[in-house]
Amino acid sequence: MMRIFVFDSGVGGLSVAAEIMKAMPDVGLDYLADSAIFPYGGLEPQALIDRVMLLMEAVLPDLNPAALVIACNTASTLVLPPLRSRFSLPVVGTVPAVKPAAEHSHSRLVSVLATPGTVKRDYTYDLIRHYGQDCEFTLVGSWKLASLVERHYNGGDVSDAELLDEIAPCFVEKDGRRTDCVALACTHYPLLLDRLQAIAPWPVEWIDPAPAIARRVVSVTAEMARAPQAGERRQHSFRATGSLPSARFLEAFGFTDYAQLPL
Ligand code: DGL
Repeated sequence: MMRIFVFDSGVGGLSVAAEIMKAMPDVGLDYLADSAIFPYGGLEPQALIDRVMLLMEAVLPDLNPAALVIACNTASTLVLPPLRSRFSLPVVGTVPAVKPAAEHSHSRLVSVLATPGTVKRDYTYDLIRHYGQDCEFTLVGSWKLASLVERHYNGGDVSDAELLDEIAPCFVEKDGRRTDCVALACTHYPLLLDRLQAIAPWPVEWIDPAPAIARRVVSVTAEMARAPQAGERRQHSFRATGSLPSARFLEAFGFTDYAQLPL
């Protein structure tokens, strides 16, 4: 059975994993969450690159997946070039959905909601320069939102007020116009999309890049795809370098095998 490896600093990559599972019903998925080091949003660039390279050196040779998915914007803005020069398998990243947001916006006021790391990166500014068209961008680097999602997935309570504090700066009014598109540029955020929609000061289009990432994974592995052999069951495994999310969430996503990996 073909296997795909999905990596994030925490549970955020589950928003991407769920779309891959939908798009590729015959593949098995191996997920690694670097929960020992989470959050990546405040890490210095070199520390982040070194950590991701160390983890990939440790796990990729044994797993031998058809593709590696870096389901983390914060990491993707830095590690895609070194990963692609070190490993020969297809590497699919996750970068802020600036282009679709600019294409969808009528008011031309667009916000990018991301981690403090992602909003600082040249990568993000280059995307805006190339694909931002005539939109005005508000970059919102949230220090807490990914952690609130982690807390929820660990069985804790997250209040509407806490969520609203993090998303409020995305909602801009200017010259009679209002922000109408928000790019969810951290894979954690779509996991609480229904809550974000419910508390938004006004309705906006939330852009979740996960379906597009899943289509990319389908396309880069098209040559390798093969039907499962008789009796082969698709199984998904979840590993975390630190604490594991609540079992009920992992099982809801289809992970039957989960454990800590001391790395
Ligand atoms: N899920 C990660 C992203 O897409 C970041 C969360 C973090 O570790 O700060 O950017």
